[in-house]
Amino acid sequence: MAAAEARTAHDSAMKPTRQAQRDTARVEQAESPRSAAVPAPAPTPGQQDTAKATTGSSDAPLRDVYHQAPRDTVSQAVYNGWKQYNLNCARCHGEDVAGTTIAPHLIVSLKPNGPVNSKESFVQTVCAGRPEKGMPAWCSLGLEMEKINSIYEYVKGRSDAKVGPGRPAVRQQG
Ligand code: HEC
Repeated sequence: MAAAEARTAHDSAMKPTRQAQRDTARVEQAESPRSAAVPAPAPTPGQQDTAKATTGSSDAPLRDVYHQAPRDTVSQAVYNGWKQYNLNCARCHGEDVAGTTIAPHLIVSLKPNGPVNSKESFVQTVCAGRPEKGMPAWCSLGLEMEKINSIYEYVKGRSDAKVGPGRPAVRQQG
């Protein structure tokens, strides 16, 4: 009796570790854009908790990292901005513009009372950068104005809560 109980306790103690390993693999898969087409099994609430712990973002809003299917339909400019943001800005300013510890939270910066509350100040800041403070000067790095404008459309949409997290889809014309 006592031995069987002990084994049960042992098994359930092992479970979170195995789950965490599986979840880490899934999260890595889910982060590759191409894996969006690969259907992942729906996570149980327990697995979601573990995934949250492994990504270390307990403050981040709870979202399903396993399903990257497009949720928002956006203009072509916003979509291009999402792509360019992820190529150039996300590594410092955070995926989904969620903020990091190394660069300002742009959702906050672009609020009406934030330090970068106009398109002009955004474009100027991004173009000239603040090289001495770790923000690259994107115009001298060769990022075209058209791309900076589209990044603004995306980041502004995130700041205004009009564009959700995750990969958006382009709205069909007509
Ligand atoms: C290498 C890291 C890094 C990358 C990549 C980067 N930034 Fe920054 N960015 C920073 C840092 C650090 C600051 C804060 C500089 C300061 O202290 O004034 C900043 C500041 C800013 C600000 C001003 C925010 C405010 O509140 O004053 C804007 C806007 C901005 N970045 C946009 C962008 C955009 C758009 C991209 C992509 C094209 C980008 N950044 C890429 C590091 C980065």
